[in-house]
Amino acid sequence: MPIMQKISHDLRLAKRMSRLGTETAFEVLVRAKALEKQGKDIVHLEIGEPDFDTPANVVEAATDALHGGWTHYGPSAGLPDLRQTIAEHVGRTRNIPVTPDEIVVVPGGKPIIFYTILSLVEHGDEVIYPNPGFPIYESMINFVGAKAVPIQLRESMDFRMDANELRDLITDRTRLIIINSPQNPTGAVLTEHDVRDIANAIGDRDIMVLSDEIYSRLIFEGQHHSILSLDDWKDRTILLDGFSKAYAMTGWRMGYGVMRSDLANHIARLMTNSNSCTASFTQMAGIEALTGDQSSVETMCAEFKRRRDMFIERVNRIKGFSCRSPKGAFYTFANITHTGWNSKKLADALLEQAGVAVLSGTAFGQFGEGYLRFSIANSYENIAKALDRIEQWTSKNL
Ligand SMILES: Cc1ncc(COP(=O)(O)O)c(C=O)c1O
Repeated sequence: MPIMQKISHDLRLAKRMSRLGTETAFEVLVRAKALEKQGKDIVHLEIGEPDFDTPANVVEAATDALHGGWTHYGPSAGLPDLRQTIAEHVGRTRNIPVTPDEIVVVPGGKPIIFYTILSLVEHGDEVIYPNPGFPIYESMINFVGAKAVPIQLRESMDFRMDANELRDLITDRTRLIIINSPQNPTGAVLTEHDVRDIANAIGDRDIMVLSDEIYSRLIFEGQHHSILSLDDWKDRTILLDGFSKAYAMTGWRMGYGVMRSDLANHIARLMTNSNSCTASFTQMAGIEALTGDQSSVETMCAEFKRRRDMFIERVNRIKGFSCRSPKGAFYTFANITHTGWNSKKLADALLEQAGVAVLSGTAFGQFGEGYLRFSIANSYENIAKALDRIEQWTSKNL
């Protein structure tokens, strides 16, 4: 009998995969879970999702939809009734007429980032994006072979985008500008004035704006302002919003984009080619989320604010730490330069020695050095416990 030799094949990845980044939050979660398996007690302040349950009326709508047979493929751009509901919601909240053919429903907010960049940005184009910022922007810009141009969000500006700096970064190659308010990781909220200044900095250039407004319902002070609300910006804006953060539906995977209808057709084609459609029963629940009782959103937002106030008050008393009060989302971005540690090392030490999982500011780009991101999407008691531990750790180690 001839001996069969097993042939092994090296994995030959496409070159573009070397340009794809990731989201460190998921990696830190895995490390924290591994420590928990060894018997360590970890407080999780690394995760970017509400610790609340999805509202009961939304869960009920989904189970009714499952029993009612909403278990089949649907249109790639989303169920007509949900697109209509979203159009009305966005029309009301952004004070501008929106029609269902300008809506594409997708599995989570993230695909809108992916599809916008895939459909609009060519190799060699420039895309300006906030830094520190949601890491997927930079990852996707690099992935398509474009040039990622960071705009630094500065603590002195409360981490709001500086329109003058933006003006200086715009070139003839700029194809897309990404803005995000309320912002991850800083909790910054753009004022109406900021939004107008950003629009004026872009002027009438043929540049598209991806406005990531996934945290639009989680504002502690002031109001949410969208570039979509400004006259003449509808043609150049892709608004990203969704259900993950407002209704504690991160695992459901449902978000949407609002854009001119011709672009919506192309984005829907990307959906046909990748996901076919967003789950039908999930979309039925989405209608209930937007049209049903909204008190859960208000309750959640009020609780985040209560936690924020406690966190800010206490963290500013810890040696080496200082932190501005975020105006929205559920993150705090603490300056740790006076600890003398770099962000990654400090985040690792807090995880391994103090049992508190947080993210290094550098997980959000190079301008995150000197900061740690704390998610306040954990209970008041757990946040207080984390602060106790950090206080103890710093008194021993700093
Ligand atoms: C700024 C920002 N945009 C988009 C998303 C993606 O949201 P989703 O979970 O709905 O895909 C997140 C999630 O953390 C985010 O922080």
